[in-house]
Amino acid sequence: MIITLTGFMGCGKSSVGRRLSKLLYCSFVDLDDYIVERAGKSVADIFTEVGEKGFRIFECQCLRELLESHVEGDFVIALGGGAVTTPECARLIREHAVCVYLTASEQTLQKRLSGDTKRPLLQGESLEDRIHRLMEQRAGIYASVADFSVATDELTPMGVAHEIFKVIN
Ligand code: S3P
Repeated sequence: MIITLTGFMGCGKSSVGRRLSKLLYCSFVDLDDYIVERAGKSVADIFTEVGEKGFRIFECQCLRELLESHVEGDFVIALGGGAVTTPECARLIREHAVCVYLTASEQTLQKRLSGDTKRPLLQGESLEDRIHRLMEQRAGIYASVADFSVATDELTPMGVAHEIFKVIN
């Protein structure tokens, strides 16, 4: 089974994914790390060079490669927070994977993301406004692609991983 984790930046996809893969004794890949490795440059540099549109095309290509690389057993993938906004990515995930939406309130996200300098979509205007605007656009998409969701606000990453483990086992 391929288990993908989606949700807003800062919801804990990478830290939960790593822990979930330990519970399942399986491989884990962070899609952003895979993108950086394949491109040989940071996410911020990709955004600067080809814009968000170019990043999304490459992100989708990388996701397809990861899904195709899976042979048997379990495999956990932490998606980037915007991956499911690309219809082709959403289609690939629906077709090939189970998808878990890690939710977090806007206040929780603000706390976790304050001081972030790496994520291009969070730079510029106030963090609060950015999170609010993007969440308005995305909350429905996350929910529509996901098979189930786990609220992360009150849980540790290991606690979230255990919740997912209980549902899929
Ligand atoms: C993005 C989320 C980031 C990264 C890129 C765009 C988004 O991943 O893919 O900065 O559009 O939400 P994380 O969710 O792992 O921070």
